[in-house]
Amino acid sequence: MGRRVVYVMLTFCGLLAAGLAGWLIISMNATVEAATPMSTVTVQLSGDQGTVRGNYGQTAWSGQSFMQFRGIPYAEAPVKSLRFQAPVDRLPWNGIHDALDFGQRCPVITNLNAQMSDDQLEDCLNLCVYTKNLTARQPVMFYVYGGGYYNGSSEDHPPNYLLERNVVLVVPHYRVGALGWLTTLSKDLPGNAPIADILLALNWVQRHIQQFGGDPTQVTIFGQSAGAGVTSALLLSPRTSENHFQRAIVQSGSIFAPWAITKDPAEQARRICSQLGCQQCEQETELLSCVQGATVLQLLRATQEESFSPVVGDVLGILPEHPQELLNNYQRGVPIMTGFTQHDGSFVLATYYDILLSKVSNVSALSVRQFTQGLMDMAKDTTGLSDHLLYRLLYTPQLLNSHAHSDALPAYFDLTTTIYMKSPVISLATKLHTRQPTTPVYVYSFEYEGQNTRFGYELDNSHYPFNGGVHHSNDNIYLFATHPLQGEDTLMAHHMVDLWTSFAITGVPSGLSPLSTASGPYNSLGLQVTKSENLLETLTATIDDPDNERLQRHNLDF
Ligand SMILES: *[C@@H]1O[C@H](CO)[C@@H](O)[C@H](O)[C@H]1NC(C)=O
Ligand SMILES: *[C@@H]1O[C@H](CO)[C@@H](O)[C@H](O)[C@H]1NC(C)=O
Ligand SMILES: *[C@@H]1O[C@H](CO)[C@@H](O)[C@H](O)[C@H]1NC(C)=O
Repeated sequence: MGRRVVYVMLTFCGLLAAGLAGWLIISMNATVEAATPMSTVTVQLSGDQGTVRGNYGQTAWSGQSFMQFRGIPYAEAPVKSLRFQAPVDRLPWNGIHDALDFGQRCPVITNLNAQMSDDQLEDCLNLCVYTKNLTARQPVMFYVYGGGYYNGSSEDHPPNYLLERNVVLVVPHYRVGALGWLTTLSKDLPGNAPIADILLALNWVQRHIQQFGGDPTQVTIFGQSAGAGVTSALLLSPRTSENHFQRAIVQSGSIFAPWAITKDPAEQARRICSQLGCQQCEQETELLSCVQGATVLQLLRATQEESFSPVVGDVLGILPEHPQELLNNYQRGVPIMTGFTQHDGSFVLATYYDILLSKVSNVSALSVRQFTQGLMDMAKDTTGLSDHLLYRLLYTPQLLNSHAHSDALPAYFDLTTTIYMKSPVISLATKLHTRQPTTPVYVYSFEYEGQNTRFGYELDNSHYPFNGGVHHSNDNIYLFATHPLQGEDTLMAHHMVDLWTSFAITGVPSGLSPLSTASGPYNSLGLQVTKSENLLETLTATIDDPDNERLQRHNLDF
């Protein structure tokens, strides 16, 4: 897969996607198995929707039993003429629907069951509900997974930590890749269908979650990476209201990120149409019948080098204007928690390094300035303004004109992390705070370095002349039971679960301080929480770190 990965990664979304795909594998292999009693439990959905049968799981630390209903269909299969369209409510069913195992995941080229028809493969709009008490009124946590907008599933997010607390967890599937995002911003191919999937799942929660002991007036939406893009888009969207969710957690990314919006989706749709071997891709009707007529496999093969993300101007009215414009009319008093991992961008650095290795035989022959300019060019800022400011902030002229990549490593970390993660998160936080100073906005920097990391994802990371640091997605290691944890790592997981669930339960993440001005304070998360006044100092976290030597691997040339 190496070659393809390098190729895909030439654009950022591909980068993000391939990386995330990697950690998903890790999660699956290491899923903590809970002993489950053989018995089952049924719940009648509201109205005449039907009945679902679930079974039991066990929490990771205190061994409490919880009920799990996995793969409850919430929408009709988005097949044939429904492909690419907004999802429609699942028709009611007779009898009992078994929700005893994870539902079909939305099609990803690496995870296709050759035995299944396209109608079965695309019938993926289902969700999981985890709860300990069907008759209580517990706060609901609604998770939007990442996966670079082209991967992800509920199966990769085991609930066994979060269910230690009295919450109901809901994890919906949404469409990914071309089958979700392909659009010409027209009635036939309206755009943002995957966000419409999430919206329909939120409506489902409003209708049915009481049957599972959930309180529909206390919903926290939370999402990571690509899921952070979707979550922040829904926060600003005129299609949602304060009824859908009352709090939001946006982890590592936001709709303000350079990778969060596809600029010319119609051009991409025509390119995919040609790639499928169709003629007349300029005409809307021909294009539609081409992409709707393609098989799942053809479509996924034709788009292996494409990257997808939300679009502005979709016909569904989800993002009718650029998020910045939507923010100017934002009225909602939704408390927010948002943040990043300390070295959130080191996966971008690692991927860039792989791209360079495939192109130049000797990376050391590049100057620090050449190396850096390549990184900046990926961000596609046409004014050069941010380039100049970042050069000024992170480098000296001597360093820039040298070949001392080891000395420049901390700057490379801060550069990638600032552009791809910290800047979009800080923009979301400070813009929301400035617009609504009385609504709390909690900003965190996740800084815990434990035994596990997602650096390198499922691929080997030993060839990099640096470590991943507090890598992208490392925060989720302590929220979802994907890795067997030991010692202090378990303690950290307790802290993270307390923070996330206390925010969901009370609106206040215990022990954290909200922004009092757009400058700060912010909260550093480790085994202890520490608070600092100046949020922008996180932009130079690595160059300012007296212990940043630990990120070097001196045995390898750089
Ligand atoms: C998508 O994620 C799964 C794990 O959930 C993994 O097996 C698969 O390789 C990933 N697909 C791609 C194309 O990266
Ligand atoms: C479930 O919640 C109800 C309502 O709060 C409570 O009366 C009942 O004791 C709870 N059941 C269990 C098993 O905790
Ligand atoms: C790589 O480039 C550096 C700097 O120009 C040089 O010192 C080194 O000898 C080169 N290594 C190889 C293997 O060519």
